[in-house]
Amino acid sequence: MFRTAALVSFVFLATASAQQVGTSAAETHPALSYQTCTSSGCTNVAGSVTLDSNWRWVHNVGGYTNCYTGNQWDATLCPDPATCAKNCALDGADYSGTYGITSSGSALTLAFKTGSNVGSRVYLMKDDSTYETFNLLNKEFTMDVDVSKLPCGLNGAVYFSAMSANGDASSTNAAGAKYGTGYCDSQCPHDLKFIQGQANIIGWNGTSANSGTGSIGACCSEMDIWEANSISEAVTPHPCTGTGITACTGSTCTSTCDQAGCDFNSYRMGNTTFYGPGMTVDTTKPITVVTQFLTSDNTTTGSLSEIRRFYVQNGVVIPNSQSTIAGVSGNSITDSWCAAQKTAFGDTNTFQSLGGLKQLGAAFAKGMVLVLSIWDDYAVNMLWLDSDYPTNKDASAPGVKRGTCATTSGVPADVEANGGSISVTYSNIKVGDIGTTFKAGQSSGSGSSGSSGSSTSTASGSGSTGSSGSVAKYGQCGGTGYAGATTCASGSTCTVLNPYYSQCL
Ligand SMILES: *[C@@H]1O[C@H](CO)[C@@H](O)[C@H](O)[C@H]1NC(C)=O
Ligand SMILES: *[C@@H]1O[C@H](CO)[C@@H](O)[C@H](O)[C@H]1NC(C)=O
Ligand SMILES: *[C@@H]1O[C@H](CO)[C@@H](O)[C@H](O)[C@H]1NC(C)=O
Repeated sequence: MFRTAALVSFVFLATASAQQVGTSAAETHPALSYQTCTSSGCTNVAGSVTLDSNWRWVHNVGGYTNCYTGNQWDATLCPDPATCAKNCALDGADYSGTYGITSSGSALTLAFKTGSNVGSRVYLMKDDSTYETFNLLNKEFTMDVDVSKLPCGLNGAVYFSAMSANGDASSTNAAGAKYGTGYCDSQCPHDLKFIQGQANIIGWNGTSANSGTGSIGACCSEMDIWEANSISEAVTPHPCTGTGITACTGSTCTSTCDQAGCDFNSYRMGNTTFYGPGMTVDTTKPITVVTQFLTSDNTTTGSLSEIRRFYVQNGVVIPNSQSTIAGVSGNSITDSWCAAQKTAFGDTNTFQSLGGLKQLGAAFAKGMVLVLSIWDDYAVNMLWLDSDYPTNKDASAPGVKRGTCATTSGVPADVEANGGSISVTYSNIKVGDIGTTFKAGQSSGSGSSGSSGSSTSTASGSGSTGSSGSVAKYGQCGGTGYAGATTCASGSTCTVLNPYYSQCL
């Protein structure tokens, strides 16, 4: 996240979050299956998602009095951070009815606006009270995404956050991960109602810092796999100091994390026809997005050294676009690529000063939580993703143009006025060894049927057909870890796309 979604939750949350467990509504996590893959195939995992605590109703324990109304804490229930956490309870969520969150098989749809609710943020669960954690070192992460109903100003985001697996459950946070507590990201968001078991008000952990609600921020490393709408998208690592959540006040909230990140946005990197409606990666249709995390020694214990991106659409593997910016070459993120990009665009390289890829890798080694969300941007209208940004620079200056959205677009009031038709669908999430979660010839976006999941298993099936057969046009015919047939059907030729993929074209 380049900018925090701060205030979004304040907007509709006349009612909002706490730390004990409420009993007004049962908490039933929507099921969401995903797959883990190796060279011998993919295996289904039964997971589920939970809604972030900030979206939930927070009321007094055993009653119906709001702890938080219209950006104000109830002075009686919440005289100080610890008492507030003791007096207030988080309740169960009506996922589809109130929040527009629905799942089916391996697909999750987040509607942007349902009634007065705006946006949502959910976390993948391992069991009913624990977040699933992922270490993507020497692994890849693949998903299908449908951004066709995401116009300018929206962000359908899929990312990893270094939050705790138990949601910072403690003696003062009985709710924990089950109720979506413990969020943090690289913008060190200040809009969280509770941080580490205390209400985020004056006096949090003894602080007397600045103003009332929101005086404390929650920082942690963040890997943005996907921040996108139908016009623009970016993949962005954001390292922070430490490997887990760090609460911040004042200036530490801007020095703890690399807030800008090292982004690869194809449009910003010079290819204005690569991503968008009808373009090379066609946003009118579902897209398979592959992100690989390579390490210095090609092992799961090495340092993170490179982040690579591929797309698959209509059965064709599409390598990421190449940078065409003077002084910046390549189509993957490395520390040196980031340094070149920052120099070319005149940006400060906080990515490197906060430790670069290696530091993000340290958070993965500890385990990061998968976040899926949809949001609009009260800070800067998402211009940093899809338009000209920063607004005080000449639009023709290097790196300013990030997409074709108007600089007047993305105003939350406008976006929310049309909110009913806006949604994003994420499906077929797969995590596995490099080269095992996608292949050419596989159509993306088969939605909840899971059929592309089963077709992935044929990646290993290519072994059983033997390496003597021939591969159909658009099929895989070579690459690291590939053991299948290498002869292409007549009319096509085996073409090396990258070290991991050769394809019959
Ligand atoms: C809260 O304050 C105590 C005592 O100063 C300190 O030991 C602890 O680390 C603090 N917790 C956080 C999360 O800052
Ligand atoms: C944009 O990317 C596409 C696909 O890789 C490529 O064919 C095209 O030449 C690129 N355009 C520019 C300006 O680099
Ligand atoms: C890691 O794998 C890549 C791609 O197969 C290869 O080019 C590189 O030499 C390997 N590095 C090491 C240290 O083995």
